Amino acid sequence: MAKSLYVCQSCGAEHRKWSGQCPDCRQWNCISEQVIEAATTKLASRGKALPAEPITAIQQGSTPRRSTRIEELDRVLGGGLVPGSALLIGGDPGIGKSTLLLQAAAKLAASEKREQVLYITGEESIQQVHMRGERIGALHENLLLVSACEVESILTTINQVKPTTVIIDSIQTTVSAALSSAPGTVSQVRDCSAALIKNAKQHGHAIILVGHVTKEGTLAGPRVLEHMVDAVIYFEGDRGHAHRILRAVKNRFGPAGEIGVFEMSDCGLIGIRDASRLFLAERAKDTPGSVVLACMEGTRPLLVEVQALIAPTVYATPKRSAVGVDTARVAMLTAVLERRIGLPLSQHDVYINIAGGARVNEPAADLAVLMAMVSAYQDRPVPEKIALFGEVGLTGEIRPVAQPEARAKEAANLGFTHLLLPGENHERVQKANIIANMRPDQQTALQLSAVRHLTEAAQKLLN
Ligand code: TYD
Ligand code: MG
Repeated sequence: MAKSLYVCQSCGAEHRKWSGQCPDCRQWNCISEQVIEAATTKLASRGKALPAEPITAIQQGSTPRRSTRIEELDRVLGGGLVPGSALLIGGDPGIGKSTLLLQAAAKLAASEKREQVLYITGEESIQQVHMRGERIGALHENLLLVSACEVESILTTINQVKPTTVIIDSIQTTVSAALSSAPGTVSQVRDCSAALIKNAKQHGHAIILVGHVTKEGTLAGPRVLEHMVDAVIYFEGDRGHAHRILRAVKNRFGPAGEIGVFEMSDCGLIGIRDASRLFLAERAKDTPGSVVLACMEGTRPLLVEVQALIAPTVYATPKRSAVGVDTARVAMLTAVLERRIGLPLSQHDVYINIAGGARVNEPAADLAVLMAMVSAYQDRPVPEKIALFGEVGLTGEIRPVAQPEARAKEAANLGFTHLLLPGENHERVQKANIIANMRPDQQTALQLSAVRHLTEAAQKLLN
């Protein structure tokens, strides 16, 4: 007998009974019925035993990656597209997902191996895609366009064309005729993706799924989608800025946390190798509350400007607010500053911003956030050519961070003359001999200042 399950379309939770409100995520009117197959019993007696092999005896299959020939995208993918792999790319509407994938598709189609790339568009007509392709120079005879929504016909088309790469734009518009639910619902998204991914693994082509992002910033549809694919990358950036950041949040074939930086122009997305320069471009000179942080994004060093604003509060509880860094961490650092340096911040609001829309998620930003606050509070600018990094503990001690050499090198490359760094990182950076290894015309002396406590850092920076 067929059984039913009630699935929340918002969070994907499964329930035995229908109800008006999902007990898990508390959303209303989001539970819909889904028919599941008759319960199977005695499963063990039906299957046949599979061979289990020692891990050491497994032959390594070579996975030649296909470069997309877009350097920033390749970096995020961990070197290129892996055949048979599934990639999910998420992002706000209008951020540039279709543009990026069309550019990548054209480059792949034009590669020496003469690959066929199948671009399936469910949102735009093929004329619209062609128009965009013409504008951004992404036309090639090996790039095939299909306008389709039904997963059954998509699968048949794929298996007939036998492309090496398939792009589905977007997974939310893909529907299966076998399901009665509307496009974009959890069961549609999940079942269509499962069929497409399974087909890709069988035939060995790479599949790229485009996914929309909800208001809350997560991929619309069930979380299971993120588990089904091999890599999840997000395309971020705000509309006010021309630059966009591609970020790998999961990657089975490469490092997660890697980023690629692009700029949206008239002729599509342009990769930006020198991202630090971009993030520092609008930096005002000699303004209090601004410092330059040398942070790491994946394996890549990046210099960003950390800004702080401190103003007397009008609230009973002063505000601690942050854009681009964790607000809870800022609240903690504010308390450290109050206790260890004695700034009376309980009467002040604290605002922290990473300029240019960048996001920093590592403790190595602590020292920069704190120094920006001290500089803002004392209304004294930090000298322009100083960069810094370091984690700060609750007693105000400055702790070492990972990859100090790469950070120092990036600072030197961008012409910084001073680097404030944790005492325990000093030796490593000194040994790396950064200046001696640079091109003679790039060499500017990078003076290292090792600090072990917050008070010491504030003294060195603002005297
Ligand atoms: P698009 O790739 O359609 O976004 P998504 O697929 O993520 O929804 O990008 C659309 C936006 O990009 C649109 O606002 C116009 C802008 N754009 C440019 O500025 N230059 C270009 O060359 C292209 C193709 C788009
Ligand atoms: Mg699109």
